[in-house]
Amino acid sequence: MDRKIILSGIQPSGNLCLGNYIGALKNWESLQDEYDSIFLVVDMHALTSTQSPSNLRNRCLSFVAQYVACGIDPEKSIIAIQSHIHEHAELMWVLNSICYIGELNRMTQFKDKSKNQKNKNVGLFTYPVLMASDILLYQADLVPVGADQKQHLELSRNLAVRFNNKYSETFKVPEPFIPKVGSRIMSLQDPLKKMSKSDENLNNIISLLDTDNDIRKKISRAVTDSGSEIKYLKEKPGLSNLIDIYASLTKESIKSIENNYQGKMYSVLKKDLIEIIINNLSPIRSEYNKIIKDKTYLNDLLKKGSDNASYRARKTLSKVYRKVGFVKK
Ligand code: TYM
Repeated sequence: MDRKIILSGIQPSGNLCLGNYIGALKNWESLQDEYDSIFLVVDMHALTSTQSPSNLRNRCLSFVAQYVACGIDPEKSIIAIQSHIHEHAELMWVLNSICYIGELNRMTQFKDKSKNQKNKNVGLFTYPVLMASDILLYQADLVPVGADQKQHLELSRNLAVRFNNKYSETFKVPEPFIPKVGSRIMSLQDPLKKMSKSDENLNNIISLLDTDNDIRKKISRAVTDSGSEIKYLKEKPGLSNLIDIYASLTKESIKSIENNYQGKMYSVLKKDLIEIIINNLSPIRSEYNKIIKDKTYLNDLLKKGSDNASYRARKTLSKVYRKVGFVKK
């Protein structure tokens, strides 16, 4: 029997951070043995925020190298850059035509991201339709993402069902795969806000390529509360965030972490957490430093990834074009 398909992607904006690792990359790595997997660097999405062309170009390759350094194996999974597969934009156009403005108006991420923009770009508004196109193009069964993508996933499902009802069964209806622990890692200095790779204040985030010393400093300075009891509570967002990171990286339950640190000071938990993060990230960093130098390896991997992805994308898109009534070339 064919394996189920998973698909996910990350926008090459800012530096990949611990939130992306725990919410997405770490799960991708463990799912790739069981599923037919496609992992994209979604550079077309990144155009919705301001990017310098040379930064975007370098960051795309750097993200691919970081995917591999995190254990995404190009022999097992397809790794590709979104803009290498033109079918994404083409399917998006068809989906645009069945998506309602009201649906996009309700997207909380659009509201957040456009809040302070004077001239809101249309790309930012229709971004969730491009995301639906990424997913539906590959007939994905499951989409491993963090909690912030839940609403976008819901739209992808609605568009798949709407298209199927209008034109007959065409798309699989994808399910989100959101980790139970660590689906929303928070900022280290402002634990009521999501840790975000595009945050300009680097003290808020742990980047995957941070040095051991950066990690030590950032966790030591992470905001907690003035209490002393190590308990996972809503009223202790900073401490709870550190416990979430701890639990996600060690797979230890939150209850057992609370028990183990009963009567101990926050600084003890922080000290142990620093070691845990360093043990996770420093092998990734050294692997990355090797891979990023080997441009031939990266280009070959991307060529193979985009050939494989394009083949699948073409299959779905030609079916879609036939169903909507476009004349065959
Ligand atoms: P992006 O680039 O913002 O984030 C990439 C992935 O990381 C997860 N994530 C987090 N998880 C836990 N805690 C956090 N603080 C945190 N920050 C980010 C995100 O949930 C995501 O899984 N629209 C998407 C990219 C995208 C996509 C797709 C994803 C485009 N097409 C198709 C899946 C399938 C985005 O902006 O993610």
